[in-house]
Amino acid sequence: MDLQQVRNDLQQRLPQERYEHVNRVTATAMELAEEVGVSVGNAEIAGLFHDYAKFMDKDELHELLKQDKEYELYSQYHSELWHAPVGAILAKERYGVEDQDVLQAIRFHTTGRAGMSPLEKVIYVADLIEPGRKFPGIEELRNRIAGRSLDDQMTECIQHTVKFLVHQYAVIFPYSFDCYNEHVRRRKEQ
Ligand SMILES: [Fe+2]
Ligand SMILES: [Fe+2]
Repeated sequence: MDLQQVRNDLQQRLPQERYEHVNRVTATAMELAEEVGVSVGNAEIAGLFHDYAKFMDKDELHELLKQDKEYELYSQYHSELWHAPVGAILAKERYGVEDQDVLQAIRFHTTGRAGMSPLEKVIYVADLIEPGRKFPGIEELRNRIAGRSLDDQMTECIQHTVKFLVHQYAVIFPYSFDCYNEHVRRRKEQ
């Protein structure tokens, strides 16, 4: 795959700010992948594609989402979540990405899920903590995860997200709870 072509495509599709976010997520994911022994090449591809569908209009996203095997489930939740499964669909369709782990990392980067692979966790964490992210508590989160295992980093990140969403009275996708429960259980068993 010609990654320069993917970058050019992203630059056309996304506003500059979002394109820069994608580059920072990709760089952060590649570093983290290297640290924890995950394929750096896969981290690069998944990082580049994770927000590929982010700025498509809602109707177009909805149309593409119909190809997803969990369309019924996703369609009941906020359209903000749809860019993740649709990104995986388009990575496969337009660029021939076949690696299931890469496709799952794109697909679950917003919600997480139970049973995430190391690559999925790398992308989830990188998306949340890339150096351009600014939200209340980001510095504390970065400090808490520094030097920790990938599972501990993921635990902190999913806890942060679920807390944030609850605080907003947001509807929460069930896989995010599954992810949270799995990580909290793991920690209690330690
Ligand atoms: Fe995203
Ligand atoms: Fe993102």
